[in-house]
Amino acid sequence: MKLAIGSDHAGLALKTALLPYLESRMIPYEDFGTDTPDSVDYPRIAERVCKAILSGQFDRGILVCGTGIGMSISANKFPGIRAAAVSDPYSAILAKRHNNANVLCMGGRVVGTGLATLITEGWLNASFEGARHQRRLDIISRIEQRNQFASVASSAQEEHETINNEQDDTKPLTTDI
Ligand code: RB5
Repeated sequence: MKLAIGSDHAGLALKTALLPYLESRMIPYEDFGTDTPDSVDYPRIAERVCKAILSGQFDRGILVCGTGIGMSISANKFPGIRAAAVSDPYSAILAKRHNNANVLCMGGRVVGTGLATLITEGWLNASFEGARHQRRLDIISRIEQRNQFASVASSAQEEHETINNEQDDTKPLTTDI
């Protein structure tokens, strides 16, 4: 189990406070930033962590921002990432058991270090239950794929219309109508 971890400025203190816990459990991790209190845009950090997971080099990720919400919205834009913004251990455990969440998001302005440690522990110790939950994740994957195709198709349609309009623009205007 290798963890990719990241935060923005609002999550930096909580992320830093979680590192000794990961070390005590001998969980290898890599910190993808930020490492200063200067303001940074959380989607950039989410992108680093999600790409590291999708590359196969890391198994799971932890993302911390002010609320955990911006990080989870950003992370869930990456097909194959299932990010859960969580503020209690029960949701963290269920996020793994039922949703197979591979990214845990927390809010540094929402939870303290003690609670965040319990949340992290619950999520790390839980196992995905599969069965009906796998069926539901498969539906999510198919929705994701359909929407990828839809967005490719709509870009192609826009391109097609642009080309046609450009061609139309070159035609002389008819006067016999
Ligand atoms: C930063 O101020 C804050 O908006 C960010 O950390 C996060 O909470 C967004 O969802």
